[in-house]
Amino acid sequence: MNNLQTNQSRAAECLLEIQRRDQDNRILKQNLVELLAADDFTPVYELADRIRHETVGDEVHIRAIIEFSNICARQCKYCGLNCNHQGIDYYQMTAEEILTTAERAIHAGYKTIVLQSGENPKLNKRWMGHVIKRIVDMGAVVTLSIGELSRQELEFYRECGAERYLLKHETADPEIYAYLHPCGTLEQRTGCLRSIRELGYETGSGFMIGLPGQTLETIAEDLILLKELGCKMAGIGPFIPHPDTELADEAAGSPELTKRAVALTRILIPDANLPVTTALGVVEKSGGQKSPDETAGADRAENAFACGANVVMKKVTPDEYKEAYEIYPAQLDKTNIEEDRKLLEQQILALGRIPV
Ligand code: 5AD
Repeated sequence: MNNLQTNQSRAAECLLEIQRRDQDNRILKQNLVELLAADDFTPVYELADRIRHETVGDEVHIRAIIEFSNICARQCKYCGLNCNHQGIDYYQMTAEEILTTAERAIHAGYKTIVLQSGENPKLNKRWMGHVIKRIVDMGAVVTLSIGELSRQELEFYRECGAERYLLKHETADPEIYAYLHPCGTLEQRTGCLRSIRELGYETGSGFMIGLPGQTLETIAEDLILLKELGCKMAGIGPFIPHPDTELADEAAGSPELTKRAVALTRILIPDANLPVTTALGVVEKSGGQKSPDETAGADRAENAFACGANVVMKKVTPDEYKEAYEIYPAQLDKTNIEEDRKLLEQQILALGRIPV
């Protein structure tokens, strides 16, 4: 047997093994690392796509994100909203602005509204609860993405009707986590994710590809952690250096490795909701618009949904706020809630999938 054949059959063995349930985590990790490094990943993409088709079907869920405030108390080293940065143009949308935006999005066909913001310990809980209830009353599912909260706060928002919660663990390596996040530990993060799950939220986590110090072992641990936390949603995106951060000179994460991690997540958690993250931005790219993917030096303009993904997030944040929500540099087009949704639906249909 030549080397290529040996590699391919080894990859096939790893694939079969990771599909086996209750696999010892040490062996699982080794297999994941071998697959992430495989010369030819095609069989893994094909399996992920087949599992996606058989479990969650051909539908692609389009979620609307309202970035309602960029106020953040954290100092995450990679993020443009780090509270140590000068020159952030802080905003907080009013309840009325949020509700009007949500109403328009629902009218345009969105069934889920993702309320996202920086982590603001001073956020008024009653105000937030009221906003959640009003959107639930409009008939939409509310997903929250507002940072690490106390169990009491999480419980309150759950009672107000929020059904899903997104809190990325960012990296499963405790040392890399501590270096990147002066304001917290991985243990606190996973503790919060466990509370989220126990309170009956559909739990979402995720991580970045290409963080300084990250290896294929780290990514394998990230994948195993997603499964251990009982995640039903996972956002995996490439790290994109923000020029105003300490990590400005680091290289961007690899889009190929990002897609490999998404495919392996589909295999490990077959019924998960997996977005093509905005940072990957390939759908927008295939629509002829510039996307952050180009900043990241991506070279694949093909179907990003072919790696096992079944969700796409679309910003519906009003233009006056959109640019101030700069987590990473991206070229933002003007928001037109109805037109943007129609275009996305057409792009999804063109890929042979069903927009919902
Ligand atoms: N590059 C890519 N993703 C980033 N995020 C924050 N900063 C960056 C960056 N520079 C992601 C993190 C965070 C989410 C809000 O955005 O995963 O959880």
